Amino acid sequence: MQLTDSFCAEVAAADPLGADGLLATLPEVNERADLGRLGDILAQLTETAGRVGLESTSDRLAAVRDIGMTLGSFKRYGVEPLTVVPGAEQLLLRLGAQTAMVPRDTVLHYGAWNPRGPRQRMYTGAAEEDVLIHSVRAGAMAIERSALGLAELAHLDPAGAEYLAVLQRAAEDFAVLPAQIGLVAEKVPPAEFFMLRLRPYMEDVLVNGRSYYGPAAAHVPLYLIDHLLWSSDRVDPEHVALHQELMDYGLPEWIRLYRKRQGSESVVTQVVRALLAARREASAELLAAGRAVGELLRALVVFRGRHLRLVRDSYTVDSPYTAGSAGAAPEVVKLVLDLTRACERQLAGSLSSADGPRP
Ligand code: HEM
Repeated sequence: MQLTDSFCAEVAAADPLGADGLLATLPEVNERADLGRLGDILAQLTETAGRVGLESTSDRLAAVRDIGMTLGSFKRYGVEPLTVVPGAEQLLLRLGAQTAMVPRDTVLHYGAWNPRGPRQRMYTGAAEEDVLIHSVRAGAMAIERSALGLAELAHLDPAGAEYLAVLQRAAEDFAVLPAQIGLVAEKVPPAEFFMLRLRPYMEDVLVNGRSYYGPAAAHVPLYLIDHLLWSSDRVDPEHVALHQELMDYGLPEWIRLYRKRQGSESVVTQVVRALLAARREASAELLAAGRAVGELLRALVVFRGRHLRLVRDSYTVDSPYTAGSAGAAPEVVKLVLDLTRACERQLAGSLSSADGPRP
């Protein structure tokens, strides 16, 4: 599986449970706190899923997406959904196993596989929620594209033209992320909207005795960019622990790529090593590659700087939650920003030693 435009469009178009009409009423049902109606919707979706085939991956993902919208809605009111409709449990376990994902909806179901426009699945129906859904939709797709580009660099020469071209494409793809978080900062009031209105739908749900986090934005695969770009060969125990927690909620292909590259040379190390070896003899391509890596790190730092402000404005001493929707302490966001900045400084040092005036 991959988050290509065509695959995401295929899942978004799918409505295997005939849920379009039912889920269009969800914001209103949630607003009324109508738990009886929510139970009817979940029961009806579960019953339909038992009857129809759900043979294709896109139908299975779309079914989890649609059932998932009711799970978070129940949790908004503190109710464990599978105690209300126990029959949904086996279904979620089966669909999770068939798609090699966790047995509930994730940020990919809520973002990349959520249809746009009038069919978009929403908890609140608010314009701010639309901005957040789109930010995780566009963000996850762009991150995956960028990461797959970075993965190619391991086999290329950092002083070669192809290396530079692949790196520049990866940086272009990645630019979507700082732009999206900028839009969120502009359009979504963190305390009033995110914390008070949306965060309550993002609670964990019990499936087969195990708790699974909701569709948290933290589950977009930014850990893949970190890993390939700078962290696969640096071990910060807290950072590694965060990645392990987040990865369970991604695609199986991402976990495989992450594991394959564990301990191998990151792009930053590869470029720094080449720059230090070449010193003042560094070719124009190698220097350009060094600068492109620097731009990518800058874009990561810009994303994380804007994101940190949102986190701090949302998770204040007055907020009802102390942990993020992916279960982590909000301060972890600052730790990752600091590690990214340290790496940016290291690269800048090697670049200036190679890029100074020629003797
Ligand atoms: C008001 C908006 C937001 C708030 C309050 C917020 C809050 C948080 C918190 C508390 C964490 C710590 C992990 C956890 O959730 O348990 C986190 C991590 C993270 N969030 Fe957000 N977030 C917001 C929007 C977004 C958006 C729009 C994206 C991506 C498009 C995003 C991507 C991430 C990522 C990738 C992490 C992992 C840490 C990192 O790699 O820097 N967040 N966020």
